[in-house]
Amino acid sequence: MSLSGKKVIVGMTGGIACYKVPYLVRALIKAGAEVRVIMTDHATKFVTPMTLAATSRNPVYTDMWAERDEIATRHIELARWADLLVIAPATANVIGKVASGVSDDLLTTIVCATPAPVMVAAAMNPGMWHNPITQRNTRTLADLGYMFVGPAEGEMAEKQFGVGRMVEPEEIFGEIRRFFDASAARGSGLLAGKKILVTAGPCREAIDPVRFISNRSSGKMGYAIAEAARDAGGEVTLISGPTSLAQPTGVTFVAIESTAHLAEAVNLHFELTDCLVMAAAPSDFRPGEQSDKKIKRSTASLHLELTPTQDILKSLAGKRRAEQVVVGFALETDDDEANGRKKLEDKHLDMIVLNNPRTPGAAFEHDTNQIAILRPGQPTDNWPLLTKTEVAARLIAKIADMLAERSHSPRSKSRG
Ligand SMILES: Cc1cc2nc3c(=O)[nH]c(=O)nc-3n(C[C@H](O)[C@H](O)[C@H](O)COP(=O)(O)O)c2cc1C
Repeated sequence: MSLSGKKVIVGMTGGIACYKVPYLVRALIKAGAEVRVIMTDHATKFVTPMTLAATSRNPVYTDMWAERDEIATRHIELARWADLLVIAPATANVIGKVASGVSDDLLTTIVCATPAPVMVAAAMNPGMWHNPITQRNTRTLADLGYMFVGPAEGEMAEKQFGVGRMVEPEEIFGEIRRFFDASAARGSGLLAGKKILVTAGPCREAIDPVRFISNRSSGKMGYAIAEAARDAGGEVTLISGPTSLAQPTGVTFVAIESTAHLAEAVNLHFELTDCLVMAAAPSDFRPGEQSDKKIKRSTASLHLELTPTQDILKSLAGKRRAEQVVVGFALETDDDEANGRKKLEDKHLDMIVLNNPRTPGAAFEHDTNQIAILRPGQPTDNWPLLTKTEVAARLIAKIADMLAERSHSPRSKSRG
């Protein structure tokens, strides 16, 4: 998609990664965007405003007061002008200031004033990134809907290794493009106006404060579905167990740990949802008793008694509205289809996505998956081995069809 006509403010703050920003600005201009650059005083110590003026083909704004005549009435105008504001690189300082509502220079004043979404490409030394205050400020902004890109792991300018490096300009550009694609899709996409709830990743059932039982789910399939639903214009909530994946932008994110947490979160969000996709891997069993102290090493055998966890999909039965679409995943290692069909029926599902970890390249941890679609009264639809992104896009197209059918058929009472 071209970014023609899109208005982007790039706000630069004082970090080494400033040298990469002209590449980002150049890519935006090449794609047709209109770009205005705002630099903090400290950013100008790293690259000159002249470089950014040349790449953005516009004057660069650096000071709220020095260019008073031009800017005094224009900082609010600029704030309103933007379709998107990208802070790159974003220092620990600017993240802290924005999270606290401080607006003591041109950039933070515009961030405070703008109704436009804000994307943050954090860049700092790993010590600064892991500082609990930076982490708290980042969470505050993420909870408020600020989109974070990175930071990445790698070697820093000061030869230290860790998380804190700004992601490459191409990656920030990709996120900007995805943001605009998703905004366009929201207006006209297959899932425009639909609320989609996706669960992903494993659950952990505590044995004691340091040990747990879990499974091998990576969350990749669920995250791909959440992203595909977002790209199709859906309003997406992703409930995720602990994974190593980056939190997708443009999606409401709810972190859970145990199957009980997952059940609670799903029950909380289900009522307002048009479609639920249960791609998470809940635990079927949890330790009957959880020790509140670490169980000590011993030479004697330790017997754990496992009790069944709540069946989340079954627990939703009484709450379902006829027009809601509920999709479950079934991971089977034997009698796949028969077990999947039984689950489809027992849990009154509209669709089961069946996968088998014994199929090469399928299920847990892979970037690919080979699935079969089971639907009540329909023959099994076997799909070839595809990337999880492709599987997700196809699933979303199917779900959009089902939602469209439901909205055309007369509404009936709860399915019970
Ligand atoms: C050489 C040098 C490199 C720096 N790099 C970073 C950085 O990458 N990230 C960061 O948060 N701060 C960095 N700082 C510190 C910030 O420049 C400093 O916190 C400043 O107050 C940020 O101001 P600003 O956010 O208004 O631009 C660096 C400082 C120096 C001297």
